[in-house]
Amino acid sequence: MKTIGILTGGGDCPGINGVIRAIVRSGLQHGYTTIGIRNGWQGLIEADVEPLTDFAVSGIISRGGTILGTSRTDPLKNPGDFKRIKNTLKKFSIDALVVVGGNGTLAAAHEVATRGIPLIGIPKTIDNDIPETDMTIGFDTAVSIVTDAIDRLHTTAESHHRIMVVQVMGRQVGWIALKAGIAGGADEILIPEVPFTMDEVCQNLKTRFAAGKKFSIVVVAEGIPLEEICDNSVPECDRDECGHEKFVGVGNLLGRELERRLGIETRVTILGHVQRGGKPTAFDRVLATRFGVAAVEQIRMGNFGTMVALQSAHVVTVPLSSIVHRLKQVEPELYAVAKTTMGGRQ
Ligand code: F6P
Repeated sequence: MKTIGILTGGGDCPGINGVIRAIVRSGLQHGYTTIGIRNGWQGLIEADVEPLTDFAVSGIISRGGTILGTSRTDPLKNPGDFKRIKNTLKKFSIDALVVVGGNGTLAAAHEVATRGIPLIGIPKTIDNDIPETDMTIGFDTAVSIVTDAIDRLHTTAESHHRIMVVQVMGRQVGWIALKAGIAGGADEILIPEVPFTMDEVCQNLKTRFAAGKKFSIVVVAEGIPLEEICDNSVPECDRDECGHEKFVGVGNLLGRELERRLGIETRVTILGHVQRGGKPTAFDRVLATRFGVAAVEQIRMGNFGTMVALQSAHVVTVPLSSIVHRLKQVEPELYAVAKTTMGGRQ
């Protein structure tokens, strides 16, 4: 019997467990056993693994997070780690790897694949920023959580005649802000891909208020540039080990500035990791299952160094080399749709 190893790396998201379940079940049907590697690449380096039986994956399709744990470990950073990875693969007779990850994890997977390790990538991230796939696992759930939050903020904003700033995840792209902003009827959507000025934003909100709409919802992606809002830069102590901003929260700076400029009471909600927690939507469960089954199919065919992807409702494969060091930004047409329906916009 042959053996598949599966690891989940980077930020977790709802839907990953559906992939693990699909790999194990589909693998069993085709004569493979599956070994779960704990905590991303770290588990391969440290030989920290667990057998995944049919029983072990029972009931996990509805659970958020990843039963294997995750980490942001770079497998090729420390000299000697690649050798350790190869030793682990040999020790547990792992014939093929499935790597479930976002941009960082899949870029590393590409490097590892070019060094001769047979693997298949599966795209997951709530950010939906991986090229060559229409959707990543976790995105649909995050959009639905944020839309629900915007709905709830609407009623309290309306009652208090306030501006509500909602900060959502999306370090480099604004997919969550844009989709949830459209679905929740936001009055402003600020994303990294579309430059804005504070003057323009304030003018839009003023127009709404003047028209008798005494509240506004402003959705902002965490990754918009701070420079337009204020001259604060992010101090080193507020950055994680990858240099990413952790705690400052552009939403707070934006809220403060809107209140100062417009004189309208403003409140800020930073949704944070709530967007990544809890049950996956039905869409994410189905996508995860399709991706998992497709990955086993690719292993059977020996089509390694590839990533499964969703293109026009079909599951396809693309070379991992086609997605590295690239970001899938929001479609300008979708932003134009949002702009057309934002309150106060002309
Ligand atoms: O990359 C996915 C993501 O959810 C980003 O949207 C967010 O900025 C980041 O992860 C948060 O990472 P962490 O869990 O390390 O705080």
